[in-house]
This record gives sequence, structure tokens and C-alpha cells, in this order.
Amino acid sequence: MRTPMIAGNWKLHKTLDEAVNLVGALKTKVKDVDNVEILVAPPFTAISMLATKLAGSNIKIGAQNCYFEPSGAFTGELSAPLLKDAGCDYVIVGHSERRQIFGESIEMINNKVKAVLEAGLSVILCIGETLEERESGEMYDILTAQVKEGLAGVTDMERVVIAYEPVWAIGTGKTASSEQAQEVHSFVRGLVQGLYTPEIAAATRILYGGSVKPGNVDELMAQSDVDGALVGGASLVAEDFARIVKFE
Ligand code: PGA
Repeated sequence: MRTPMIAGNWKLHKTLDEAVNLVGALKTKVKDVDNVEILVAPPFTAISMLATKLAGSNIKIGAQNCYFEPSGAFTGELSAPLLKDAGCDYVIVGHSERRQIFGESIEMINNKVKAVLEAGLSVILCIGETLEERESGEMYDILTAQVKEGLAGVTDMERVVIAYEPVWAIGTGKTASSEQAQEVHSFVRGLVQGLYTPEIAAATRILYGGSVKPGNVDELMAQSDVDGALVGGASLVAEDFARIVKFE
């Protein structure tokens, strides 16, 4: 009942020319895929150009971040309504790089989740523990807080996707084993059930992120609670991302 989703988080990569070339190649490679929701999240500068290039295709566009106010005197920021206007369907919120490098608090992330939904867009809420938190046994408390506080005040879960990204697995080549991913995904689904209903928990997609590659996607996707992947590095290469989209 849950449509798998494969999302590419390009981070701070790709000029306009490079972005157009990448989606051009990708579009051809995944044109026959109709059972997976495919998303690319380029840098802000490429969004409106790619919206034109991808119109009518099976690839949607997401943003990697947004501010929580819709408009106003917030120099340098972008809002969910502006991202919608530029052609986005999704916004990624609370990525661990935003939390760690840019000091985003859980309250700010919750405000962003609500702002994205308010604008009529869908949100990918990222959660995940650091290696220190995993090893000290705090992992489940941390994940519980990230889910509960991240979703505080959110009633419309239909447009919420959760991405579990263990911080120690991002860009490090160290993927969580499929068993580790399944264990956390099942725990997170239980949290959603506790906050909402069993039906909502069963319908909510939980993506795994952290060094997903063509070589490990099949095993991850075989887990019953892994509903897709949020892919960084491997989403920058059309062939690799297309193979991940076509997981077996
Ligand atoms: P990675 O990044 O696939 O390069 O580990 C994942 C992410 O940060 O979303």
C-alpha cells in the first residue's frame, strides 16, 4: 500500500548546465518506471529550470531546505510558498547537515515542517542519531524526540515522509546494515502509531538514507519497513541513481 520513493539529495552540487545534463540522462533511464515516486532535490538555483525540463515526466522536484515564514524581512531565506511557485512538490526538512552545521533546533524544524504543509507541499522530515548517541544507548530517546517534536501540531500525515538517516552513515560509505535499518524503521513506525493511528502508521513512508548505493539498495528495500531511500552521493550520477530507482 505504500508507494516506494527514491529521492536524490544533491546537496551543494551541480551548476545549471550540469543539473540539466543530469536530469536529461536520468529522465531517459527511468522513463518506464511507474511504481516508484522519483524525486530530485537540486540546489535552489536549479529548481525552476529543472521544473521546466521535467514537466510531464515521472520525476518530481524537491528543495533541500526552506525558512518557516512565508515572506517578509528575512534576508537570504526562501519560503515554502516560493518553492512551490518555482515548481517544487517536496521540501526536505531537518537534514542532519542543517541540524549540525547550521544549528537548526528541533523547534525550528517543527516550524518548517508545518510551513511546508501549510503551503500545500509535502515534507521529508529527516531524523537520525550520531555514532556517539548510538553507542551510549541514547539512540531511541533521540529518535523519539526527533519524531514527536518534529511532528508536533501536524495533523495531515498524508503529506509527510520520514527519512531515517543515521548521521554516522551519511557520506561515509558506512551503511547501516539492512537489519539495523529495519529495526529503527519498525521503531519509528511504532512511534507514528502512538502519535496517530495504526492506519496512519501503516500508510506513512519511511525512507532510509546514508551511503545508499546500487550495490546495497536491493537488500535495504527488501526490509518490510524500508519504503524508499534518500540518496546523497549516488544521486549525482545518472546511472547509479537510475539503478537505485530500479531496485529489485
Ligand atoms: P549519502 O547522503 O548518500 O551521500 O550518504 C545521504 C544524505 O545525506 O541524504
